[in-house]
Amino acid sequence: MALFGKDEAQKASEQKANGGSEGLEREKLPRHVAIIMDGNGRWAQRRGMPRTFGHKAGVEALREIIRHSDDLGIEVLTIYAFSAENWKRSAEEVGALMGLLLEYFTKELDELNRENVQIRILGDIDGMPSGLERQKAALHAAIERTQKNTGLRLCIALNYGGRQEIVHAARQLARRVAAGELTPEEIDQERFAAELYTAGLPEVDLLIRTSGEMRLSNFLLYQLAYAEFYQTDTLWPDFNKDTYDEALLAYTRRNRRFGGV
Ligand code: FPP
Repeated sequence: MALFGKDEAQKASEQKANGGSEGLEREKLPRHVAIIMDGNGRWAQRRGMPRTFGHKAGVEALREIIRHSDDLGIEVLTIYAFSAENWKRSAEEVGALMGLLLEYFTKELDELNRENVQIRILGDIDGMPSGLERQKAALHAAIERTQKNTGLRLCIALNYGGRQEIVHAARQLARRVAAGELTPEEIDQERFAAELYTAGLPEVDLLIRTSGEMRLSNFLLYQLAYAEFYQTDTLWPDFNKDTYDEALLAYTRRNRRFGGV
């Protein structure tokens, strides 16, 4: 995995200044972009505001990134909205995030559907705590309503953990072996990938993490095997179309070798 330091970000920023999105070579763009939207809390705290204020601003940033991905013809955008570990946050913060989620799906679904966006949830919706029945219903409704759409595929990782996903896939395969549908020898990478939440999607090409952290945080552990990693110090609420273009431009300049030379 190539790491992307400040020098490369600086270079991309200067090059982008000469042309914006128009400067991007469309045929070299990633098919599948995954984003860890980090830094909402710090963004708010720096303004003397509660963390939830940062999450609200984070939703605004997300809107712009979804729109821009669609405009650029990116096929799949996967975002880390809420991890299986995020339930450990304060009840106030979890409540605010769940409120934003419900509001997002209530307000945005019509437009996303009009834009031909297909929504997929990666994670255990039904394993979300009780008391979130409205959220669960809204998520299922969004999936169902947009499932035939053929535009941008927007995958929202929610109550998601990469290890949990791998264990779930292993269990599914074990069940199939126990049922006599499959022999252990028939289990290969293709069959394994077919049991993941991302089944049928193209490989992740680019992982972006904002806010300067250099961790995977249990995100897409299987799927990121050959993804290019881009990190930026920009906090998520400040991430916009221009900073996204910088990441994309940097990606188009990478030399991907997939273990070859
Ligand atoms: C990480 O920042 C961000 C999150 C855990 C939540 C991300 C969620 C959103 C942007 C909005 C909800 C999504 C939808 C689809 C409505 P952090 O809080 O860990 O920031 P910090 O590292 O500065 O504390």
